Amino acid sequence: MEQEILKLQGQAEEQLATVENGEQLEEFRIRFLGRKGQFGSLMKELANVPVEDKPRLGQMANKAKKEIEGLYTEKQQKFAEGSTRATGKSGQIDLTLPGRRPQNGKLHPVTQIMNEVCAIFESLGFSVAEGPDVEHDHYNFEALNIPAHHPARDMHDTFYVSDSILLRTHTSPMQARIMEKQQPPLRVIAPGKVYRCDSDITHTPMFHQVEGFLVDKHVSFADLKGVLTTFTQKMFEKDLALRFRPSFFPFTEPSAEVDIACVICGGSGCRVCKRTGWLEILGAGMIDPEVFKMVGYDPEIYSGFAFGLGIERIAMLKYGIDDIRLYYENDLRFLSQF
Ligand code: DAH
Repeated sequence: MEQEILKLQGQAEEQLATVENGEQLEEFRIRFLGRKGQFGSLMKELANVPVEDKPRLGQMANKAKKEIEGLYTEKQQKFAEGSTRATGKSGQIDLTLPGRRPQNGKLHPVTQIMNEVCAIFESLGFSVAEGPDVEHDHYNFEALNIPAHHPARDMHDTFYVSDSILLRTHTSPMQARIMEKQQPPLRVIAPGKVYRCDSDITHTPMFHQVEGFLVDKHVSFADLKGVLTTFTQKMFEKDLALRFRPSFFPFTEPSAEVDIACVICGGSGCRVCKRTGWLEILGAGMIDPEVFKMVGYDPEIYSGFAFGLGIERIAMLKYGIDDIRLYYENDLRFLSQF
């Protein structure tokens, strides 16, 4: 009996392997698995075996039948998939069906805004320079007039790699790096990643900034205002008012924080601008003579302005997004909207 079970299982497997279409599969089913099929007969024969062998042989026969049924279902699904994929009901290929579109990838919204910002400044004659994310303490702080004991270092929650190496906390180090290598006139923007140990709905530990600076003879605050006004008009496609609030940065004097009239309410006051009518978008100022001295420029001859803006912030304002972390959760439902 044992031999018979194994033989039938073997036969069924062999036969199923040769099945090539739905018709043959149905024949197979009737022959082996149907009510009058061979597995049916086998079960009937089991009635005649000695009582003590019944449980063991019964189990064995059931297992063999289940295995064959499993293989049969697999094959059935394979044929079903094939027929709906390639042919219509009549068995013909339906040439009127629309093609399958490949999913196109696209740039991350932060990259898109970064490219837009760079394109605007390039159209104003600025060239683009990139610098290292892992930076010397010297460029990140010292060369920007922020010595070791300076309280301004408290403004940055710095990730240190060693005592003198760190992840840059802003893109301003590029001012010093470029100025020590090149002579004025200079018009440069420096986009890139920056890092601060900070995380909440308006901060992520890594974010993007674009630094900009211009050095020449007779550069004035009016030039800074002109460049930033042109930038905001192009960026937000609106003639938005700008407001310069006095502020402090060790590497600029005078320094300002720059606000634009709220892109949502136009200045009348809403939730986004916290009823003030203004949104802060960047820090700026006239480059401090101390910074010029450190790179060997004569501050009596040259003057310049600098500014630094956060890309995620611009993107949030432009798209009306209230949680910065959404950019970095990798949820395609969010990212593919831009
Ligand atoms: N580096 C500053 C920061 O990350 C932003 C900044 C402010 C850059 C004023 C400038 C500037 O060039 O003039 O907070």
